[in-house]
Amino acid sequence: MLNKIGIIGGGYIGGVLVQECASRGIARNIGFVDPAPFVNPDDPPERQAVQAKQSIAGGKALDITEGLPIIGADVNLVASKDYSALEGAELVISSAGVPRKARPDGSFPSREELLTTNLKITKMVAAGIKQYCPDAIVINIANPLDAIVYTLNAVLDPPKNKLMGMAGALDSTRYRSFVAEAANVSVKDVSAMVLGGHGPSMVPVRSSCRIAGIPVSKFIDDDTLLALETRTRKAGGEVVGLLGIGSAFVSPAWAALEMAEAIIFDKRKIIAASAYLTGQYGIEGLFVGVPVILGKNGIEEILEIDLTEDELAALQKSAAGVRKTSDEAGELLAKMD
Ligand code: LAC
Repeated sequence: MLNKIGIIGGGYIGGVLVQECASRGIARNIGFVDPAPFVNPDDPPERQAVQAKQSIAGGKALDITEGLPIIGADVNLVASKDYSALEGAELVISSAGVPRKARPDGSFPSREELLTTNLKITKMVAAGIKQYCPDAIVINIANPLDAIVYTLNAVLDPPKNKLMGMAGALDSTRYRSFVAEAANVSVKDVSAMVLGGHGPSMVPVRSSCRIAGIPVSKFIDDDTLLALETRTRKAGGEVVGLLGIGSAFVSPAWAALEMAEAIIFDKRKIIAASAYLTGQYGIEGLFVGVPVILGKNGIEEILEIDLTEDELAALQKSAAGVRKTSDEAGELLAKMD
């Protein structure tokens, strides 16, 4: 159990994260940060006074605190509109940023189109972590995922085992769920990984997908596999299109917690995560989704698994897309200073 976990971002994902952290008993203290609602200096003073007192993180934390006797959880929740609630956190999960949201015509932006807005927020997130919990292990969920992790790295320059992005865990659980459904077997029997950038170029790794240890191709034909891999690449958008109000939030929160629990309980679990690569898979100086061992030090090891020629080419192509967005993030960040 941790002494303290920090959760940044009080939206749908942040809400599920705090609720689950409280019920799973993974930390004695939870620090919850969200600056919303913002006080608008153009509003009449009475309105400004109301908004200054409101706090989305404070409201959600109080709501959860009041329910703790029912679930029998002894957890302290502290919330703040600034970053002070993070004080002393050993592990931080950040979902701070705007999500993809369907437009009135049903279309929705790409994750890359969130870059400018989420970069500004990321700068504040980095400053908050630096001030209140500089030694924390950090898991980022905000999009465009890999470029936001790259930006956090540029500002914080932490030991590389302590910074990672949650995407592979989510994309892999989506792939596993579709495989289990198509094969009509328990989700528990399916193991699979999705590597690469968190976008349409991600790479579901069919060659290592197994059902109870048996190659997936023994259960599902090639055309069906191709269709469900295509669905996996677009799975985030499928939820955005259905929800209308934003993007997926339960499975992303659970995926981040899968990573957090692997670290907190030193499970040494193998999970795909956006990690800093120094030549693995022919990729260097970038955060890209690859299989890692997660344990008490964060990323204990980056694994170089055997991929088919096509899978490796697809991973490198996906990394090229991540490089483009990460470079763009670097340029935007330089202009912000
Ligand atoms: C998704 C977002 C969280 O894939 O990136 O649903």
